[in-house]
Amino acid sequence: MPGRYEEAFRAIREKFRRAAVPAAETGIIPYKSENGHWIASPHDGNGWWTGGFWPALMWQLYAAEKDAFFAEEARRVEKLLTDEFRVFHHLNHDVGFMYLLSCGADFKLTGDEQARTDTLHAASLLMGRFNPAGFIRAWNGPGQEGFAIIDCMMNLSLLFWASRQTGDPRFAHVAVRHADTTLREFLRPDGSVSHIIEFDPETGRRVKEHPGQGYALGSQWSRGQAWGLYGFTLAYLNTKDGRYLDAAQRIAANFIAHIRPDGLTDCDFCQPKDEERLDNIAGAIAACGLLELHRITGDAACEANARRLIDGMLDHCCDWSPERCGALTRCTASYHDDGAGRHTNITYGDYFLTEALAKLNGTDPMLWL
Ligand code: GLY
Repeated sequence: MPGRYEEAFRAIREKFRRAAVPAAETGIIPYKSENGHWIASPHDGNGWWTGGFWPALMWQLYAAEKDAFFAEEARRVEKLLTDEFRVFHHLNHDVGFMYLLSCGADFKLTGDEQARTDTLHAASLLMGRFNPAGFIRAWNGPGQEGFAIIDCMMNLSLLFWASRQTGDPRFAHVAVRHADTTLREFLRPDGSVSHIIEFDPETGRRVKEHPGQGYALGSQWSRGQAWGLYGFTLAYLNTKDGRYLDAAQRIAANFIAHIRPDGLTDCDFCQPKDEERLDNIAGAIAACGLLELHRITGDAACEANARRLIDGMLDHCCDWSPERCGALTRCTASYHDDGAGRHTNITYGDYFLTEALAKLNGTDPMLWL
């Protein structure tokens, strides 16, 4: 008899097989589900940082059973994403999320050469954001020349991938420089991580921490904690450098200490205790990182807590209704800005929930490496 996680993966497959039809009919990249219908990204059109997660979800479903339906839908969106190379000005450090999980996944699973070329193109764009003063620039706005953010730890996998593909160590050198800066400047003594650090773009000297998508300056935005947890785990998998594994384990211990009794995840671990503001995306990302940490170290607590997170989501926050698009509910894009979604379905939550289930079921193609 299939277990709970196999049942959940099957439910996701059926849900998204149905939900891919309106996505293709309307021609959009689904960002979130509102009143059961797909909504495109709130900013920057197809250049918004989340565009890769829908094709990534399709590739996860393809990897499990090789159903060509999912490959076709993934490629529909890959075309929209590679068109953004020409627009260019929306693209930022999140090209790792956008292209490694779409074109990179395509190449990994089908060997398509154009998909490999497009992924290398994205890696070159990410390289171009490196400031030799010691960090990868996050965003494009005026005054943000010195901004680096914790999320970028996830994008470094694109650079490590490019070095392995080409035999050229430049990409990996840049990834290591940025990871070392993040280790030095973002990781706090209690195992939490900052979201945004501004550096002097001329010298690389730290200027200050900025408040980001969390509750307040110096607080613990849970999705940032999850990016750090999984990002340093991936940096370890890419380099085998024990300093990154140690960082991932410290961030994991802090994250585990803040999992709610119901297995759900607060939007910020420092938010007021009477505030009901959840972000299950953070829990889904952290579950993926914890499952990888368990695979690397054998630490049973990592696996047990990943299951606590997944069980919490399956118990309380999944919408399996066939009429409505989107599965994982109670996701929040940003603590103080409800514009991109509060307590709603957001597609990258669905992606990380699916990746975590695939890991538990043994079908994860590990799209990050
Ligand atoms: N990478 C941006 C976010 O997590 O919202």
